[in-house]
Amino acid sequence: MAAITPLFSATHDERARESASAMLRKFVSGPLMVQHRQVYDRTTKPAFEKKYGRAPDRWELQTLWESTAPYAMRSALRRIAQEDMYEVAGGVIERQLPDLIETARRTARGKTTGSLRLNPAVAAPAYLTAVDIHCMPGNYHTELTDDDVYAGALYDRTITSHAYKGRNNDEVGTCLAEFVRRNFPDLKPKRILDMGCTVGHSTFGIAQVFPDAEVHAIDVAAPCLRWGHVRAEEAGVPIHFSQQNAEKTDFPDGHFDLVLSVIILHETSGKALRNIFREAKRLLRPGGVMAHCESRQYYAKDEFDAAWHRWGTKFNAEPFMTTMHELELQSVAVESGFAKAKSFPQTPMLATMNADLTISDNGPAPKTYADSLYVNGAVK
Ligand SMILES: C[S@@+](CC[C@H](N)C(=O)[O-])C[C@H]1O[C@@H](n2cnc3c(N)ncnc32)[C@H](O)[C@@H]1O
Repeated sequence: MAAITPLFSATHDERARESASAMLRKFVSGPLMVQHRQVYDRTTKPAFEKKYGRAPDRWELQTLWESTAPYAMRSALRRIAQEDMYEVAGGVIERQLPDLIETARRTARGKTTGSLRLNPAVAAPAYLTAVDIHCMPGNYHTELTDDDVYAGALYDRTITSHAYKGRNNDEVGTCLAEFVRRNFPDLKPKRILDMGCTVGHSTFGIAQVFPDAEVHAIDVAAPCLRWGHVRAEEAGVPIHFSQQNAEKTDFPDGHFDLVLSVIILHETSGKALRNIFREAKRLLRPGGVMAHCESRQYYAKDEFDAAWHRWGTKFNAEPFMTTMHELELQSVAVESGFAKAKSFPQTPMLATMNADLTISDNGPAPKTYADSLYVNGAVK
């Protein structure tokens, strides 16, 4: 397995602050979440059932919760933890930004196994610029200096706190590619596209599951692509990064055997999501596979978990999180031109690989982030 040598340095004090910040996030997603659930099961839900003869749905829950202490505490601390994470990691990146930019320049000038193609004419769409998505200051695309890598480096530094795992934060990509390899054993992809790659965490895993394929990764955000190129080259994993909008790329029709994405759909508008599905169909050769991975759609999710997931839209600057998760993506695939018989409903990403693994939102917390993800897609 290829490995990336550490690209950041952190002083003792920086590490101490990052670790305190991580502890706060763990407290919010661990003990505080458990307490919130207990209060719901023991008090909120029975009281609602007594009054209305049924359990509350996710919309009612969100309103009900706002006046309850465990939700208010979980919500406020979750938001503080999110902002704190970026503030602390931001300091680490800012201190060494000139060096990181120089590293990226050196990589781009040197002999490479993959490539980087930037196009300043590609603008980040309004659904990505209107707010700082999940409170990340400046978002994915902002450039404040020449050859800026700040956004990419910041995302890279903070991604483990989004629960990504794997030596290079590549576990989700590895699992998605494995999902495809096992469910479509005859595909044997020669050309693969990863849409919305950010810094290529998942692309890195995909490229290693299919080492003989030519792997392309696109994003609209130049600072992330520059940083992704550094990471991939550092490990000698050939990935071809280009700055493109996944709604309309410059690749020819039928160019790919496999089109993938990892958690981008919930960050795009309803219109863009449908454009992305249509573009995936155009890009696939007949028999090619489209596979998007996301967390579970609400129609199949426990109402408590769905109500909490909606928190992201209201308080964590993720405007499309809720509307995307209310969709039934198999229908979107069909609307986008894929045959119903060739599309598949959301499928737990890991369950098909490990029969012992049962995924339940009411059961124990997922062992890894990949355990909580689902794949939606179709064959062209
Ligand atoms: C949550 S991140 C994806 C993480 C990444 N796939 C990974 O696994 O590490 C969402 C990314 O999608 C990109 N994105 C959103 N809409 C896009 C579009 N229409 N075209 C290209 N990139 C897009 C954003 O710029 C951002 O980098």
